[in-house]
Amino acid sequence: MKGVILAGGTATRLKPLTSVVNKHLLPVYNQPVIYYPLEKMKQAGIKDVLITTGTEHTGQFMNLLRSGSKFGLKISYEVQEQPRGLADAVRLAEDFSDGEPILVILGDNVFQHNLKPAVAKFKKQKRGAKIFSVPIKNPGQYGVVEIDKKGRVLSIEEKPKKPKSYLVQTGIYLYDGQVFDLIKKLKPSPRGELEITDLNNLYLAKGELTCEVMKGWWVDVGTSFDELLRANQLVAKEIRK
Ligand code: DAU
Repeated sequence: MKGVILAGGTATRLKPLTSVVNKHLLPVYNQPVIYYPLEKMKQAGIKDVLITTGTEHTGQFMNLLRSGSKFGLKISYEVQEQPRGLADAVRLAEDFSDGEPILVILGDNVFQHNLKPAVAKFKKQKRGAKIFSVPIKNPGQYGVVEIDKKGRVLSIEEKPKKPKSYLVQTGIYLYDGQVFDLIKKLKPSPRGELEITDLNNLYLAKGELTCEVMKGWWVDVGTSFDELLRANQLVAKEIRK
């Protein structure tokens, strides 16, 4: 299993903090944001990680993370020429993954849950994809997941006006080798992006999507200044324990 961290995009919701600095290089307590998904890759037992970034900041990521040896990882880099969506960024990992399944983490997600058991289990399964979800109070600004009593996924809707549940799709995904063929089938959404939710819905339609409800806190720091602050406070609290 290989790892992919998406660290491109425009980060408009955090401007002016992100006018010059890439969102994933902002501090969360004592580390840049990108360190947190990298640590989660390592904890999950993944050694080979690809980071995809936009054109402006690739050099900064390389200066900071270099070969990855200081994290005990091997880090590679790919440039996403335009921010055409999350599924478009995943597409860049086709050569890197070389047919192996991949763990994808959005570079702005900071969370507690340990992915190691799910990764170990996924390695044994032949096909499919897995999403990770958490219940939150105001789910409408995320992908919203509806599951039945047995935990089977019924629907995923991207930023719905009327959310069908309190469960949100986090920025953590496990995909098998067919992911790149499925991405090639996607059409840009009304906002001009290849959406990760559309990709996950292709797996759902094939009956090959599962969902794990995560333990502990989860923050998408790119959502707002308040969420960025919350991540700082949660990490600080954990370190001071
Ligand atoms: O964090 C969870 C949410 O992430 C999910 O609930 C949503 O279903 C999913 O669409 C996504 O929503 P966001 O609105 O948070 O996506 P955002 O545009 O902020 O991008 C998420 C990450 O992906 C961020 O780290 C930047 C990176 N990115 C984004 C785009 C659009 C790229 O690397 N390339 C891109 O083209």
